[in-house]
Amino acid sequence: KPRVLSGIQSTADSFHLGNYLGALRYWVDMQQDNEAFYFIADLHAITVEHDPKLLRERTRRSAAQLLALGIDPERSTLFVQSQVPEHAQLSWVLECLTGFGEANRMTQFKDKSAKQGADRVSVGLFTYPVLQAADILLYQADAVPVGEDQRQHLELTRNLAQRFNSRFGKTFVVPGAHIVKDTAKIYDLQEPGAKMSKSASSPAGIIELLDDPKVSAKKIRSAVTDTGREIVYDPETKPGVSNLLVIYSAVTARTVADLERDYQGKGYGDLKKDLAAVLTDFLTPIREQVRSYLDDPAELDKVLSRGAERAREVASATLRQVYERVGFLPRA
Ligand code: TYM
Repeated sequence: KPRVLSGIQSTADSFHLGNYLGALRYWVDMQQDNEAFYFIADLHAITVEHDPKLLRERTRRSAAQLLALGIDPERSTLFVQSQVPEHAQLSWVLECLTGFGEANRMTQFKDKSAKQGADRVSVGLFTYPVLQAADILLYQADAVPVGEDQRQHLELTRNLAQRFNSRFGKTFVVPGAHIVKDTAKIYDLQEPGAKMSKSASSPAGIIELLDDPKVSAKKIRSAVTDTGREIVYDPETKPGVSNLLVIYSAVTARTVADLERDYQGKGYGDLKKDLAAVLTDFLTPIREQVRSYLDDPAELDKVLSRGAERAREVASATLRQVYERVGFLPRA
């Protein structure tokens, strides 16, 4: 079976619809025909200022959400990044293969550091994409399901894998990105030119999976729409309406063309009302499941610890090979 791997940061109380539609639903689907490794990227979460207590809580909440969405820990390996020390260990080796200029070209770092100022930005944020490469290469993943914003990091990962292989001998599988175009970028409801984002969007711009359904419905109703009144998919001139159509289509598995036909002659208000109802139906059972997983944190921790054990078997085998190839002296 091919291997897939992906990760998500535990930097918020709830995942949002962009995370789900751009990535997490493929995590769930891909469990079927692949050997899957999924993890909560808490090492990445500390690249920006954080509160320790909150981080621990959010890591558990992340696990609860992944389980509620349908990640099956019997079938897939679900774990927390910091519980598998090989991630940090491989990251160091890869940092030594990454050019400073190469890292400096990563646009996510540029965006984030431009906002925070050079003195407040950590070196960890700078090397973030290299750690991400280590995450992927440790598991010899064939495919990595992510949203469009991760494309450049995947490209770096491929380059590092090829560089290592050509310098030290074939060691890593060169992974492919699994980015599904239709939903690779879900936009902010208030600012349909920008992606829906945990860190950059206003609360009204993002639909959190764990929002109260009434709150989600209100956010949909007050989403920015466009001039004109037709409900058609045209991201250039109608980014707001197009975003709502994409969300609607993804949640209901109906095509955008089908929805356009259905809403001919109807108004934005109708579209929003129906989408709010559809989302409520989708999110309500997920929220209930998350709550029930969070009721038993000890069990949750056990699931994660079993996952980490399984992950380590694979990760340590890769790291052992890497250490040998780069010339580290093995312990006698
Ligand atoms: P993160 O935690 O920001 O996001 C998790 C996943 O959600 C996708 N995503 C979106 N997709 C569509 N539209 C949006 N508006 C949207 N916002 C987020 C992201 O593309 C991602 O797939 N660096 C990663 C975490 C990571 C990782 C890895 C991923 C660490 N190591 C190894 C894959 C492999 C990140 O910050 O994702």
